[in-house]
Amino acid sequence: MTEMKDKIDKNKLPGHIAIIMDGNGRWAKERGSHRIFGHQNGITAVKQAVEGAGELGVKYLTLYAFSKENWCRPQEEIDALLDLMVSSINSETKALIENNVRLLVIGDMDSLPPAIVDKLIDVIDRTKGNTGLTLIVALSYSARWEIARAARLIADDVRSGKIAGEDIDEEKFAHYLATADVPDPELLIRTSGEYRLSNFMLWQLAYTEMYFTPTLWPDFRKEHLHRAIVDFQKRERRFGKTSEQLNCD
Ligand code: FPP
Repeated sequence: MTEMKDKIDKNKLPGHIAIIMDGNGRWAKERGSHRIFGHQNGITAVKQAVEGAGELGVKYLTLYAFSKENWCRPQEEIDALLDLMVSSINSETKALIENNVRLLVIGDMDSLPPAIVDKLIDVIDRTKGNTGLTLIVALSYSARWEIARAARLIADDVRSGKIAGEDIDEEKFAHYLATADVPDPELLIRTSGEYRLSNFMLWQLAYTEMYFTPTLWPDFRKEHLHRAIVDFQKRERRFGKTSEQLNCD
């Protein structure tokens, strides 16, 4: 039987895949367990997504791990989630280095406990020379926060004379986003059957192909990633043009 992985055209891989990991709470509830149990099992899926993307040769994988809105969850759940992320990053640092994975983090670092920021900076520094997959963890991230921050930074640079207001175009604006130097995602995956962007990469997703699956995040495995990529490769990306106009600038 042909496996989903064999159906992937290696020459047409999405360069950047972004994932909204959703459904941990429902997965736990289905098992009569606490939401935190769902997050714990979500780590298996994180490993599968990272390994799966790395094995194929995908260059960037962004995971929406914690939104700015998530700070409104019960303190116990927030603490457990942050603990889980730090302990996973700690226990996986060696594997990240061995597998040539570079870690980046996007989000409001000022809102995170300093010990967590120090840990993240340490791993980012230790993996900065890696040339395989770039794993971007969106942590205390929201797209509107990111866009408002970019506007603030631009205002500062205009005020100090570093740039002229009339020179700001889409390309320059993008340099002020948390994802400066990272290509836009070509494929967005959201699990758990929800059809929303939830304040995630609103600028960067302008022309991204969306793939929604009912699979709850803790059940997500490499095969689900392969299926999403095969689906992506069947699509014609038109970027607002007609099929006939695809070669025009
Ligand atoms: C959404 O499920 C999931 C989250 C808010 C957290 C996901 C984070 C992890 C699995 C840890 C990531 C760790 C690293 C190292 C990247 P939900 O709680 O919103 O589920 P529900 O919609 O069913 O309630």
